[in-house]
Amino acid sequence: MRVLLALPLLWVSGISTAQELDPTTGLKMATGWQAVSTTCIRCHSASVITQSSGSREVWKSRIVWMQETQGLEQLENATEVQILDYLAENYAQKAASRRTLIAQKLLPPNPYTQ
Ligand code: HEC
Repeated sequence: MRVLLALPLLWVSGISTAQELDPTTGLKMATGWQAVSTTCIRCHSASVITQSSGSREVWKSRIVWMQETQGLEQLENATEVQILDYLAENYAQKAASRRTLIAQKLLPPNPYTQ
């Protein structure tokens, strides 16, 4: 009985190392996420952000692009720094955008080979 009670408590208290996601936006709840959640999801869903990745410069260029062409207002400097820190840290450029290929020996026989 004691064990049964303790397990859900461990789960709720977030012992796992996985990054917690905000249930509403899906944003990783790391330092600065609230700034993104208040500034960045007025015009599009947060998934536009969570499915993107990039270096700080890339994120900055996206913000500038939205400001020049999509009506995003100039951001307070402190807010922009917070947002860029958050994005560069949590949605950094991935080493590769495709998964590694499955090993040949794990694939089923190819029905099209003669
Ligand atoms: C004033 C409206 C507005 C706000 C606020 C806004 N965006 Fe956007 N954003 C857009 C529009 C419009 C697009 C293009 C959407 C599309 O293609 O469907 C876009 C696209 C994007 C893209 C995809 C760009 C690409 O190259 O594919 C990302 C990433 C993004 N926004 C991030 C952000 C972040 C981060 C913030 C907060 C700093 C933000 N947006 C705030 C209007 C906005």
